[in-house]
Amino acid sequence: MTDAQTSADRGGPPALIGILTVSDRASRGDYDDRGGPAIRAYLERVLTSKWRAEGIVVADEQDDVADALRKLAAEGACLVLTTGGTGPAPRDVTPEATESVCSRLLPGFGEAMRATSLQFVPTAILSRQTAGICDGALVINLPGQPKAIAECLDAVFAAVPYCVDLIGGPFLTTDPAHIEAFRPRS
Ligand code: MTE
Repeated sequence: MTDAQTSADRGGPPALIGILTVSDRASRGDYDDRGGPAIRAYLERVLTSKWRAEGIVVADEQDDVADALRKLAAEGACLVLTTGGTGPAPRDVTPEATESVCSRLLPGFGEAMRATSLQFVPTAILSRQTAGICDGALVINLPGQPKAIAECLDAVFAAVPYCVDLIGGPFLTTDPAHIEAFRPRS
């Protein structure tokens, strides 16, 4: 364990995780945000180290999504999970916003989530979801359907704690009954 791994479970501050819902209708209050709470419920099931969440809901506007991602990263989030706006419709701009704020892309996340999701729905191929690093935060796009959230996170979450280690974030631990975090050098 390095200094950077002053972990939540070793008495450090709780890891900050951003939860960004991207939806015109949820942002207008036309319906309740269901994606954000589904992400929170997933993290409650899977993470065993201390964490806290900051949730933001924005419309499908590229600048608003980019600003929210930058804000969460600047506040010290080690992980930001977005939901919605990844499809092919004209107002789906979450991947573009993600790419615009990330210094590095991690395309394997999108590839793995689509591959797994195709086992559930043929329309998984429509999601352009991606991932990348924004100012010390691992940003991962998830589709808007609440049921897609666990389907997608189950496909990639084993790699998330090690990725957070590599970018200098806190030492995240998981409940192996749900997800066994894989750290090749531990
Ligand atoms: N992935 C999973 N695992 N489960 C789903 O139900 N829905 C798909 C796809 N990926 C889905 C999924 C559909 S129907 C669409 S249109 C795209 O995600 C994009 O969704 P979004 O625009 O809400 O992000």
